[in-house]
Amino acid sequence: TDLDKIRNFSIVAHIDHGKSTLADRLIQETNTVAVRDMKEQLLDSMDIERERGITIKANTVRIDYTADDGQDYVLNLIDTPGHVDFAYEVSRSMRAVEGSLLVVDSTQGVEAQTLANVYHALDADHEIVPVLNKIDLPASDCERVAEQIEDVIGIDASEAIQVSAKTGVGIRETLESIVKHLPAPKGDPDAPLKAMLVDSWYDSYLGVIVLVRVIDGRLKKGERVKFLSNGTVHHVDRIGVFRPAMAEIDSLGPGEIGFLTASIKQVRDTRVGDTITHQKSEVEALPGFKPAQPVVFCGLFPVDAAQFEDMRDSIDKLALNDASFSFEMETSAALGFGFRCGFLGLLHLEVIRDRIEREYDIDLITTAPSVIYDIHMKDGTVEQLHNPADMPDLTLVDHIEEPRIKATILVPDEYLGDVLKLCQDRRGLQLDLTYAGSRAMVVYDLPLNEVVFDFYDRLKSVTKGYASFDYQMIGYREDNLVKMSVLVNDEPVDALSMMVHRERAETRGRAMVEKLKELIPRHMFKIPIQAAIGGKVIARETLSAMRKDVTAKCYGGDATRKKKLLEKQKAGKKKMRQFGKVEIPQQAFINALKMD
Ligand code: GTP
Repeated sequence: TDLDKIRNFSIVAHIDHGKSTLADRLIQETNTVAVRDMKEQLLDSMDIERERGITIKANTVRIDYTADDGQDYVLNLIDTPGHVDFAYEVSRSMRAVEGSLLVVDSTQGVEAQTLANVYHALDADHEIVPVLNKIDLPASDCERVAEQIEDVIGIDASEAIQVSAKTGVGIRETLESIVKHLPAPKGDPDAPLKAMLVDSWYDSYLGVIVLVRVIDGRLKKGERVKFLSNGTVHHVDRIGVFRPAMAEIDSLGPGEIGFLTASIKQVRDTRVGDTITHQKSEVEALPGFKPAQPVVFCGLFPVDAAQFEDMRDSIDKLALNDASFSFEMETSAALGFGFRCGFLGLLHLEVIRDRIEREYDIDLITTAPSVIYDIHMKDGTVEQLHNPADMPDLTLVDHIEEPRIKATILVPDEYLGDVLKLCQDRRGLQLDLTYAGSRAMVVYDLPLNEVVFDFYDRLKSVTKGYASFDYQMIGYREDNLVKMSVLVNDEPVDALSMMVHRERAETRGRAMVEKLKELIPRHMFKIPIQAAIGGKVIARETLSAMRKDVTAKCYGGDATRKKKLLEKQKAGKKKMRQFGKVEIPQQAFINALKMD
């Protein structure tokens, strides 16, 4: 295809503003797929994604379009993930295209992820076509929203297209606008091959499928290519495009987007943003490449210890398709065998945990999420702490630094006070407060550790769901942080230890021991429950002994009755975790870890 007949674009939007519906419409309008074959949401291929209404893996589709000028165009749409956890993937895949449709729900207006995503697009030098969606709804107010786009984002919205992705109004105009306003790609067909690895995922029949954007040169079936980040060489078995079903072709030229397969076994071996060239060619790597790093860590343990091997299998399989998910085996005195896992963020954590529980039918215990702390030792070295249980001896520690984020929150006026209070409570520093119509935009510098736990949930509940939120990492800063341990019957319970700010330690500690006192069943003996920093106890409760020994009457008496009782207990015991002499029900861990 001639370069000037190609348009490559992505759609940027806040969640639920209609990105997938619009993509489906564009496909449908151009007959890329027969109407009867349309699934409800073509691009969101995984069930969990659909249920949660989010798109996790970038997908792509090639659309053939005959424009009003009578010419045939090839439009390549890349679907980018919409959630903050996948910001790195979004910013990379944006570099594979030249333009974006900015979809804003005309009944709602600009939201936090609209901003975050459009900034990624602007960073990638995109030409941007604003699209006002959902104009079929009575609450639609295109004039107000167009004005808001100009005020808040600073791009011209006077020619914004008014669309209903639901009824199909404005779809043709959108396609015309893509052709007219988005630039054609540039590239040199005679230069050595240079292609960008945009995305990759595991397919059980074909192995790893690699989505590529060719920049210069030509990529052909049967060739040997190398990945610059790790120098590996692969033989290309297949080249193709998505229409949206996979269709094989022989080669891809400059400006084109398609896939290759090369008997690659693991997604881990393919890195988003990597540069691909021919085995014997020398090209300069694309700038700014870095693999996505996990930022949130937690322990995952099977409730039933007998399921450990199944869990290992499920984790191995999930990791095949997710290079940003890391894990290593972990043993905990309280929880037995499990895994310490690293995620891109909380949503990523939830998605993986859900998949293990649902697709592999394994009940899990999740320990408190933790971020990575930089522990500056007195000898000048720096240790990275992923798990509070590994905290080195305090006398050797000089100071501790924690990761901070810049959080942008958009919220209707009436909830602003509650949002400010929430951010303040989470040790936030206000950076900015502005208004965009009847909505306030607040920007806070917050410790990531205060956000990973339940910040989304709290934000949602104090604003009745009307706030939107996005963040980016901004670096590490020293603060007065300590490790708080929890001791049950004088034994530390690693799974419950956590890093907290010194000033909040007492409150957290008290809340934790009070909760545990309610959650741990009484035993034959008194059980002290304590929260401590180093050797110093900061909160303490005592669970008193059971008054009456109910099983005592069995001793020496009716053996069958005793056996029956024990059998009954056995089922329940599966769900209990023996700790020292104390048994802690699994639910107690889960509840104790839910902070409020
Ligand atoms: P994520 O995949 O969660 O990022 O959402 P999305 O932006 O892809 O939104 P999606 O296309 O899933 O649409 C969200 C909801 O809005 C769905 O219930 C759609 O049916 C609805 N919707 C999308 N476009 C329109 C429209 O033009 N009019 C109306 N009335 N509803 C629409």
